[in-house]
Amino acid sequence: VASADGVRLADAERGVVSRRIFIDEDIYRREMERIFHRCWLWLGHDSMLPNPGDYVATYTGEDPIILWRDSGGRVRAFLNTCTHRGNKLCLVDRGHAAALTCSYHGWTFNSEGKLTGVPFFERAYYGRLDRQALGLVEMPKVVSYGGLIFGTWDAGAPSLDDYLGELRWWLEAFLTDDSFGGLETLPGAQKYQTAGNWKLIADNFAGDHYHTVAQSHLSVFKINLLRSRPTTEQTPHGYFMVACEPGHGLGGVWTNTAMLEGDLARAEQFGPEVKDYVQERWRRRAERMGDIPDKPTGIVFGNCFPNFDIQNIGSAFAGNLLSLTLPRGPRFSEIWQWLLIERQAPEVCKRAAATMLSRGQSGAGLIGVDDGENFERIAEAAYSPLNERLTFHYAMGIEQDGRWPGQEDWAVRGIPGTFGPEFWERGQRSFYRQWARCMERA
Ligand code: FES
Ligand SMILES: [Fe+2]
Repeated sequence: VASADGVRLADAERGVVSRRIFIDEDIYRREMERIFHRCWLWLGHDSMLPNPGDYVATYTGEDPIILWRDSGGRVRAFLNTCTHRGNKLCLVDRGHAAALTCSYHGWTFNSEGKLTGVPFFERAYYGRLDRQALGLVEMPKVVSYGGLIFGTWDAGAPSLDDYLGELRWWLEAFLTDDSFGGLETLPGAQKYQTAGNWKLIADNFAGDHYHTVAQSHLSVFKINLLRSRPTTEQTPHGYFMVACEPGHGLGGVWTNTAMLEGDLARAEQFGPEVKDYVQERWRRRAERMGDIPDKPTGIVFGNCFPNFDIQNIGSAFAGNLLSLTLPRGPRFSEIWQWLLIERQAPEVCKRAAATMLSRGQSGAGLIGVDDGENFERIAEAAYSPLNERLTFHYAMGIEQDGRWPGQEDWAVRGIPGTFGPEFWERGQRSFYRQWARCMERA
């Protein structure tokens, strides 16, 4: 992607990204077409719509969609717009219906997307209307992958397996766990708006552990909100970063006895049942990892390109955060969040996880607010006309890519992805390399 003066907008090899890509309207419009209409996007979770007829209203980028389980049990995605004259068809966040009727002239569509009802069909249309062609606009590919629902508007897109690439192992290990009754999202979502380009949030999740311990979230650790201090120890018990090709990134921490002991000590206050659950959960997790010597606890934070973010600290009291960033113009975003937790987890663990999300990475949580303020100030500073001549710096640890000190001590055999130390912007570089690849394609 070349700008007018020939400087590349995102040069991942040098870790340099033009500020224009966070403010420019034309670039934003191209992103809608080349990223949000071509990539596989995360749409929701099976447990949000368990029964035939259940639906959820959401978005792919700026396109409103209805995610609807049809009468045969298959999840489909339709553009949320009436084919008559464009009125929004589904008006609520979620619900259950065999068919939806448009509030303007009353056309009715069923969960297969077919136009099944036209008022005054004989008198108004003399019985002649190509109903077949007037069905809802349907997303050509929707796949449920261990409960996670992904879809793409590109009928010719590569398989979801290829798209997820090295991230697959991580999703399978932590987000498709079927023990304890499988995973389900708790009812309700946190939805909030923030100033700031969608990519700022994505690249933060893709590998920015730096802001957590260097500045932004220090206050949260001071008041012990997370019940554990981050460690700056590099190996073998500290944080690590992983770049997962193509374009995904995450950060994690190795399973250690302190974490298990912390969970058990907390479980102690709630009786033997909770303690048994915690113990059994850690045992099954270790079992799932097989004979991998150093076992990650989860995806502590991660980005599935382009806009699906995950947080899974590993603790039995934390659950999994599923977070969707919806672009709303180059300088604005909406963040939608759900909590995913084991169906048979003790009530006290579910409550603790919900509390932790509310206090942490949510719209009014201490972590979410810390992040949001930074993104808003970046957006505010971007109104300076000089801003577009400048760049952002993502070159941390670039010289050490693939050969950083202490690497030989890490027993990561069998785990896909390129591993690195906690302070390393390789995940962000992968994100912008993939962004550039998408934007360059015809
Ligand atoms: S716009 Fe939907 S029925 Fe007319
Ligand atoms: Fe943060």
